[in-house]
Amino acid sequence: MTADLFADQSRTWREELCAGAVVLRGFALADEAALLAAVQAVVAEAPLRQMVTPGGYLMSVAMSGCGDYGWVSDSSGYRYDPIDPERERPWPAMPALLRSLAEDAAASAGFAGFEPDACLINRYVPGARLSLHQDRDERDMSAPIVSVSLGLPAVFQFGGARRNSPTRRVPLAHGDVVVWGGPARLYYHGVLTLRDGEHPLLGAQRINLTFRKAM
Ligand code: SIN
Ligand code: FE2
Repeated sequence: MTADLFADQSRTWREELCAGAVVLRGFALADEAALLAAVQAVVAEAPLRQMVTPGGYLMSVAMSGCGDYGWVSDSSGYRYDPIDPERERPWPAMPALLRSLAEDAAASAGFAGFEPDACLINRYVPGARLSLHQDRDERDMSAPIVSVSLGLPAVFQFGGARRNSPTRRVPLAHGDVVVWGGPARLYYHGVLTLRDGEHPLLGAQRINLTFRKAM
């Protein structure tokens, strides 16, 4: 038991991106199998689906979610919604393991007391990307965003307060967790086009979980 925990810690280190933003390398690996099972259970209940932007474009990233709120985009705009419009039912409950992973990551990044009420699940297949944006649909900007990367590696773009702020490219691997909040809470970010590959556990995809305090 002690030996296992120690081994996991040796795979974990932190990289500061700027004030308020940090990458916790390997942070999600400790409970990897249970974590993947929990994500699979959520998407079995609320399937991943490509949403349409208010401008009428089909998003390349497929989305689902769990917790009290999910993020929904359609012709009327973006919003957090307690009801999954596809199933006309509430989103699946947030599994306890996911919640505690997010709370622990936030605490180790300096945001103790994080209480996420939404976990968005994004699936990228090769060719999918997420253009530069701010996460600003949440009501409580004092809470950070906790972002967990699983599966194929990706390049995360992390910028600044303005759309044209310089961006840095941060490679993210399976098990890495990025936390941004405080002065970096509204910083622009995105994901470059996912490259082809095969992950031993997840195949040709990247799954990202973002935990938020939506309301
Ligand atoms: C997001 O910006 O909401 C997702 C980021 C990611 O997939 O790493
Ligand atoms: Fe985002």
